[in-house]
Amino acid sequence: MSVPPPAAPAPLAGGPAGPAALRPLLDTVLTALTTGARDRSGPLPAGGPAHTAAQLHRAAHPLLPATGSGPHEALRALVHALAAGAADPAHPHCTAHLHCPPLAVAAAADLAASALNPSMDSWDQAPAASALEDALTRTLAAEIFPDAAHPDALITTGGTESNQLALLLAREKHAHHGPLQLVVGANAHHSLTRAAWLLGLPEPVVVPAPSGTLDPAALDQALTQLHRPTLVAATAGTTDTGQIDPLPDIADLCRHHRAGLHVDAAYGGPLLFSPTHRHLLTGLDRADTLTLDLHKLGWQPVAAGILAVPDTTALAPLAHQADYLNADDDTDAGLPDLLGRSLRTTRRPDALKIAVTLKALGRDGLADLVDRTLAAARHLADLIEKHPGLELHDRPTLTTVLFRPTRATDDDIAHLRRRLLQQGRAVLGRTRAAGRLWLKATLLNPHTTPDDLENLLDHVLSHYTPAHPERHTHR
Ligand SMILES: Cc1ncc(COP(=O)(O)O)c(C=O)c1O
Repeated sequence: MSVPPPAAPAPLAGGPAGPAALRPLLDTVLTALTTGARDRSGPLPAGGPAHTAAQLHRAAHPLLPATGSGPHEALRALVHALAAGAADPAHPHCTAHLHCPPLAVAAAADLAASALNPSMDSWDQAPAASALEDALTRTLAAEIFPDAAHPDALITTGGTESNQLALLLAREKHAHHGPLQLVVGANAHHSLTRAAWLLGLPEPVVVPAPSGTLDPAALDQALTQLHRPTLVAATAGTTDTGQIDPLPDIADLCRHHRAGLHVDAAYGGPLLFSPTHRHLLTGLDRADTLTLDLHKLGWQPVAAGILAVPDTTALAPLAHQADYLNADDDTDAGLPDLLGRSLRTTRRPDALKIAVTLKALGRDGLADLVDRTLAAARHLADLIEKHPGLELHDRPTLTTVLFRPTRATDDDIAHLRRRLLQQGRAVLGRTRAAGRLWLKATLLNPHTTPDDLENLLDHVLSHYTPAHPERHTHR
């Protein structure tokens, strides 16, 4: 009796046969994305968390069967479920967070990154990918620090990691002069305070930001009282309101008080690409370290973070040696040493999707995306200002618009936001500003039309039921 030959193992994504194995699977994936989005038919699934989780479990079960369902069935079931249950930032009413709709070209490039799977911790795992990362980081660093002789940048998982690295580099720079004191605005991202905790630094000094931006007079006062190594963190594009701290004033104060300056431009940094809006970032290049996220106003799939420095020597504290990855004799023989380019070891080639995007769109294309998105935010603010039933917090600097139905209480706002989520109508954020709770629309979709924005406001107004007496507010 002849024994049947064992089935071939599951096909690989790379190698000469990889693309042929991928093509039919991609067809299944693209169909599932289409049907999933159609079944959802809004910015997020209606029904709330329990309903979405039940749907997902139904599609996923059994997640580890004794005998597999095969690639097409598994992809169809789970990609469909994920798309049907997505909060899809490509929908114009999905505007809560700095959660961008990725460009098709960037997502396509990311597929190649997955198929080739270079790992960015040693040259022998990423020969061309490491050269591309080097070219990309130098290009971006030169964009940020145009007058610097040797600017450089690292690829990170996002603003949180970039902010941590910035603090680590500052701590190491001052290692022999006592503990580093971080000074942040009350408007700074929470990851900075967390990074100080992680790195064993003293509690940050928090400077008031009464109108949403760091107050230079208060910063001056705080720096006058500090007599130890200090790093000031300013923000170009705050998480809550999208405002930009007065960077030239802050840079002057840092020079005067001999403090280091970190600028968290995770959100606002891409304005550099726009000749129309670049002036809002004046002073950015005076930073010692700079955070930039291209998975916010850069339309990249997560993750696409950058930490840039005006001089590559600033990155020296990250140098690290592990014989299996960067033996001295390998480095002496000319194999690039990549281990000092991150605190991580195995690392995806996130440079690929970013580089493809820059090359595909060019400066003009990127500027157009930035300008369109900022214009959409201004238009939304116009509509709110004109509407007697709505109140605008302030004109947007970037793409964040805070508003609320007039006479709503804070509890009304919180309930309204959750009702819109529950019914799958709109994904709006919430922010406390000027002592009150606001709905927050963070526009990141350059395809958003004026009609989309009118419809968004219609949803807000039609789901608003003032049910909570004024005494519940926290004015
Ligand atoms: C100003 C700012 N900095 C840093 C971060 C953290 O970025 P990430 O979520 O990519 O780690 C955010 C996130 O929203 C942010 O708004």
